[in-house]
Parts: sequence; structure tokens; C-alpha cells
Amino acid sequence: MKKLSVIIVIILVCSTFFLSRCSENKTGEASNQKDTVLVGSKANGGYESQVKWGEHLVMAGGCGDCHTPKKMGPRGPEDDSTLLLSGHPAKMPAPDVDRNAMETKGYFVSQTLTAWVGPWGISYSANLTSDETGIGTWNEDQFLFAIRNGKLKGLAGSRDLLPPMPWQSIRNYNDDELKAIFSYLKSTKPISNMVPPPAPPVVQRKM
Ligand code: HEC
Repeated sequence: MKKLSVIIVIILVCSTFFLSRCSENKTGEASNQKDTVLVGSKANGGYESQVKWGEHLVMAGGCGDCHTPKKMGPRGPEDDSTLLLSGHPAKMPAPDVDRNAMETKGYFVSQTLTAWVGPWGISYSANLTSDETGIGTWNEDQFLFAIRNGKLKGLAGSRDLLPPMPWQSIRNYNDDELKAIFSYLKSTKPISNMVPPPAPPVVQRKM
């Protein structure tokens, strides 16, 4: 009898232990899952709107580093906020530098950080504002195509985007993020600025 009650006690203790382990596991998994689901499915990345989310992605993604002309501030070049994302100013003359040297010995960038010289010739940062000289007439598919494939204006038959546009890394945004970026760009103040076309290199390269 004594033996039996000892066995019963052992069984009870063990089953309570296993049950508690089980339920611990379950709640553990459940709460992990909840976190994952919450982070992954937060609408608009947790921002109040798609446009706000896009603004965050553009600011954190450094698009303005090249697409917003710089002016000199106390700590060096800073964004000219009146020209936000409007690209290389059309009225600026082409970089007056030794093209041969710049194309073979290094790179050149203008003080606005919008005109670039390298082995590809001269490229100018594009106007990304909602103006028709920017992305005002684009649709969402074009934008995704441009970033994913590095094609001007997001059109299949157009030329490849030139350096230093880092589309090879920007293409890693997922579709929802790129759509948010596009909706933010569509909401920007339109700035009329017809960015000049690129110039071919003066030095012929052996490919
Ligand atoms: C290091 C500089 C640099 C950065 C950073 C950069 N861009 Fe660009 N981008 C350029 C240049 C230069 C061009 C023009 C390339 C050309 O003419 O082929 C360009 C072109 C583009 C175009 C094509 C415009 C057209 O008319 O076809 C889009 C769209 C674009 N950039 C979006 C972005 C977005 C969005 C970001 C941030 C996530 C970004 N860029 C970050 C330099 C940059």
C-alpha cells in the first residue's frame, strides 16, 4: 500500500512537471509567433500611412544624399531643403574638370553631390519629385521596374541606369517598401527641373 502511494505520488509529480513544460512551450511558441506576426504584418511598417512609411524609407535609405542638391553649412555639405529630391540643377554648367584624368584616375563629384564623372562619362542625379520633370507621370509598375532592373524611367527598352545610382542594393527593398517609397515620392512638392542627359566617356575603355 505504502509502495503504491509512493508510485502514485511520483506519477503525479512527473505528469505535473511534463504538463507544465508543455504549456510553457506552448505559450513560449505562441508569444514568439505573435512577435513575428506583429513585426511582419504591421501595416505600413508601423507608420500612420503608406506615405509616412515611404518618407522614412527614403530618409533612412539616403536617397537625398545624391538626389537633393547640397549647399555648404557649418558642418560641411548639407541638403538644400528648398530643392528636396529635385536632382542635379539644370542651370548648373557641366563639371569643368580634366575628364581624361577623372575617368582614368578616380571619380569626380560636384559640390552639389549631383554631378558625377567616372569611366562611364558624366551622370546627373535624377529629379525624383512629383513634378512631370521628375516621377510625376510614372506609374507604380514603372518605378518597381526601374529599381529592380536598373532601367531609365522603368521602361523595358530604355537605357541602363548609370553609376553611382545604387539600384543593385536598393532593389533589395521588398515590393511593399518600394510601393511606399513611390507613394511618398508622388506626394513630394513638385519641383520643375529638367536634369541634363548624361555625357558619354571621353576615354574609350577596353571591356
Ligand atoms: C550614390 C548616389 C545615389 C543614391 C544614394 C541614390 N541615387 Fe537614384 N540616381 C542617382 C543617379 C546619378 C541617377 C541618374 C542615373 C542615370 O542617369 O543613369 C539616379 C537615378 C535614379 C532613378 C531613375 C530616374 C529616371 O529618370 O529614370 C530613380 C527612380 C532613383 N534614382 C531612385 C532612387 C531612390 C529611391 C534612392 C534611395 C533609396 C536613390 N535613388 C538613391 C544617384 C543615386
